[in-house]
Amino acid sequence: MDSIYPFLEAVLLAEDAVEKCRLTNEIYQARQAGRLGCLAAGAVADFRFAGRPRRPLLVPPAQVRQRKMSTKEGYAAMLHAICHIEFNAINLALDAAYRFRLLPEAFADDWLRVAKEEAYHFSLMRGRLNDLGYDYGDFEAHNHLWDMAYKTAFDPLLRMALVPRVLEARGLDVTPGIRAKVAQRGDDETCAVLDIIYRDEVGHVQIGNYWYQYLCRKRGLEPVALFRRLLSRYDLFVFRGYVNLEARERAGFSRFELAMLEDFEASLKVRPMQGSWQQALSR
Ligand SMILES: [Fe+2]
Repeated sequence: MDSIYPFLEAVLLAEDAVEKCRLTNEIYQARQAGRLGCLAAGAVADFRFAGRPRRPLLVPPAQVRQRKMSTKEGYAAMLHAICHIEFNAINLALDAAYRFRLLPEAFADDWLRVAKEEAYHFSLMRGRLNDLGYDYGDFEAHNHLWDMAYKTAFDPLLRMALVPRVLEARGLDVTPGIRAKVAQRGDDETCAVLDIIYRDEVGHVQIGNYWYQYLCRKRGLEPVALFRRLLSRYDLFVFRGYVNLEARERAGFSRFELAMLEDFEASLKVRPMQGSWQQALSR
């Protein structure tokens, strides 16, 4: 049986967005049908950048231009920012499945399923952008999500702690607010897409939580204390702006852990940031 890893590498490096989505689905189907095994094959490559189209132009997060959502261009820029997050999320999930090979096969399968769902989100959101007369690549974007993937590429525990549990979980905090603004505009089709994204993202954070807890147990580490140390070391915060406690609980954060984190971060005197959706998305 062929190994899944060379295929995952090829999809990760695919630059064309449509091709990346198509190949992601193809690998998922092949794995479901039992045509691909998880036998390690070849060395694990380190990607400073995953495959992405030449556009959007990447700029530092602070340089992503703020646009008013009340204008057509600003509204499209907001959809574009979500599109870009979904595109990155495909690469992030593929990278987790590709990179961490000493874990049970269920780990690769979980992240491959996430990649398939992210490809679906990307396609849906790109469709909305197209309906407005824009396309993925028309606005500038930042590379914060992939940068964090690169920084955590040497350890699955670190990756699970900081990418799904911090960065992807922020999607749960910001999506309801964005959906309310989209609904106000009467854009029901985009609301329907956001509902799909929101529903699936709870599951993705849950997968991150499951494997974080699993790795902590295996290594005899206390998950809550370790998470707090990692947040300090990497200068990241969970309680920044509105935190969607209900969705986070459904995604596997315990009430106890969330309360501990809130206390801990309050002790660091973190002031909630007032901000636009662009700041919310770039955090
Ligand atoms: Fe997504």
